[in-house]
Amino acid sequence: MADPIWTVPEHRPTAEQARRTILQQHERIRALLAQAQDVAERALDGASPSPDAVASAIGDIRATMEVHLTFEDKVLVAILEDDLPLGPQRARALREDHHKQRATLAQLHQEALAAPLLPTLAAKLAFLTGWILEDMIGEEKDLLTPDGVRDDVVTIDQTSG
Ligand SMILES: [Fe+2]
Ligand SMILES: [Fe+2]
Repeated sequence: MADPIWTVPEHRPTAEQARRTILQQHERIRALLAQAQDVAERALDGASPSPDAVASAIGDIRATMEVHLTFEDKVLVAILEDDLPLGPQRARALREDHHKQRATLAQLHQEALAAPLLPTLAAKLAFLTGWILEDMIGEEKDLLTPDGVRDDVVTIDQTSG
């Protein structure tokens, strides 16, 4: 996690920079999810790489997603809040979505810590990877576009109008 792409920058980035960094994070998360999916499938086949592989994959996903959600909450929400009229509404929807993700991850991580060897955990991990992947695809399609995340164009419109 020492990679600078995960650190919330001191100064607010441009919309373009923010979008690019978040897409890079999504790529890393995809790689992590692919590994986790593999762990889940092997465990479901009764061939887990190690007894705690599923629980540990859940812990890794939660840790990475916490960093990612914090980044989006700080960087993306700030840009959206300034993009009137629709930005603040999208910022709120994003925060609510993140709240749900945090709660689901926390809940599953608790279960993994309490009973790391429970067989149902692998099925839950498989569900989790699919769910996060779908959320990223939705974000990339609906939000992380030049129109979805943009710098304050209202001010420019007003001065040129
Ligand atoms: Fe998000
Ligand atoms: Fe995201």
